[in-house]
Amino acid sequence: MKFSFVTIFPNLIKPYFEDSILKRAVDNGFVEIDFYNPRDYSKNKHKKVDDTPFGGGAGMVMTPQPLFDCLSDIKSKNEDLHFVFLTPVAKQFNQKDAKRLSKKKHIVFVSGRYEGIDERVVEEFADEVFSIGDFVLTGGELASMVLADSISRCVKGVLGNATSLDEESFEEGLLESPTFTKPQVFNNLSVISEFLKGNHSKIRSLKFALSKAKTKYFRPKMYIEAIFKDIK
Ligand code: ADE
Repeated sequence: MKFSFVTIFPNLIKPYFEDSILKRAVDNGFVEIDFYNPRDYSKNKHKKVDDTPFGGGAGMVMTPQPLFDCLSDIKSKNEDLHFVFLTPVAKQFNQKDAKRLSKKKHIVFVSGRYEGIDERVVEEFADEVFSIGDFVLTGGELASMVLADSISRCVKGVLGNATSLDEESFEEGLLESPTFTKPQVFNNLSVISEFLKGNHSKIRSLKFALSKAKTKYFRPKMYIEAIFKDIK
């Protein structure tokens, strides 16, 4: 899997791949990353990449020329690209998207800054547009890292123990049940006793019940969808 990050702030993203699981994924060749800065493509003598919005309004918008030239350059140098734009005005990214996108060969994440990107760039290049939630960030970099992280861990070989992918939250449309580790008793608080007894079918059904209870409490809409999905 290759990720290209298009951003005027590559240094916000680079450190994330210099530690932990993603560092190992890069070192072991499961994930490759590179960076393109639209500023390097700006034809403006001051390397400007933003301008005021037509029709008025607050803030600045990323101008089309640097991004058009940057993305065209990436297109001319690579095959099998999938362009993903990050903006709060889009469908919310989820685990199904992460799994689906982990099968792509090369994803180009385009991060906007200021008040957003001139819509003509999005129309021309985007294969998909994602938001990571109903809140506004200072730019798309954090969102592109969120996607790259969750996509990476779905890439075969990136996680040591692949079964952890099957048991985690959202897999059955439900949140994962609570987990515990040693010690059995900590500060007078005990682990659920059934988890210690080794009756695996009992543990499985208890985990399923806890998973449903957690989902019903924290995410009632998700719970209803999961419960009724087999009836539809
Ligand atoms: N850019 C700014 N806010 C964002 C969000 N919530 N999701 C994706 N990209 C963004």
